[in-house]
Amino acid sequence: MKKSFVIAFAAAGAVLLGATYSQAGSHSNTVSPEMAMIKDGTFEKSLTGGAGDAEKGKKTFANRKLGNCLACHANKDLASQPFHGEVGPSLDGVAGRYEEKQLRAIMINSKSVLGEATIMPSFYRLENGIRTMKKFKGKTILNAEQVEDVIAYLKTLK
Ligand code: HEC
Repeated sequence: MKKSFVIAFAAAGAVLLGATYSQAGSHSNTVSPEMAMIKDGTFEKSLTGGAGDAEKGKKTFANRKLGNCLACHANKDLASQPFHGEVGPSLDGVAGRYEEKQLRAIMINSKSVLGEATIMPSFYRLENGIRTMKKFKGKTILNAEQVEDVIAYLKTLK
């Protein structure tokens, strides 16, 4: 009698503990920049744990204060926007050249895929090379959600 009571009590405790842990986990699905290590030019897992929003990604891509991708890349899908740079390759059809996990790696840490010499910023690194302004120290250029949104948008460029 007594023994089974103890076992039942312990089991209930374990269930409670498990529930607490899984709840804590659901609040922190975001992969931090320190944890986003690229392996073989890829990063499989969504930084937010979910899919990005391509419409929002399009805005982040074009926003001169956020992605500012047009400063260096042409993109026919945004032909209405003024000035497309030519420092980087055109991103027309980029979805056909890279898998999602490769696009994510380029966004997180451009150097890990494009090479150390690339001038493309790393958008999810605390140290990102060209952005040395004080206000960006210790911050990523884009947050996890914005990175996933841009990836979702890039996937529409077929
Ligand atoms: C300062 C210039 C610069 C900015 C800003 C920039 N890139 Fe790049 N990007 C490059 C260059 C240059 C390359 C080509 C690799 C190289 O030569 O270093 C490149 C390559 C790429 C590639 C691979 C393309 C291919 O066809 O091989 C993707 C994808 C990409 N960039 C996405 C983006 C996105 C998305 C943004 C905005 C969030 C962005 N880039 C912002 C310079 C830039």
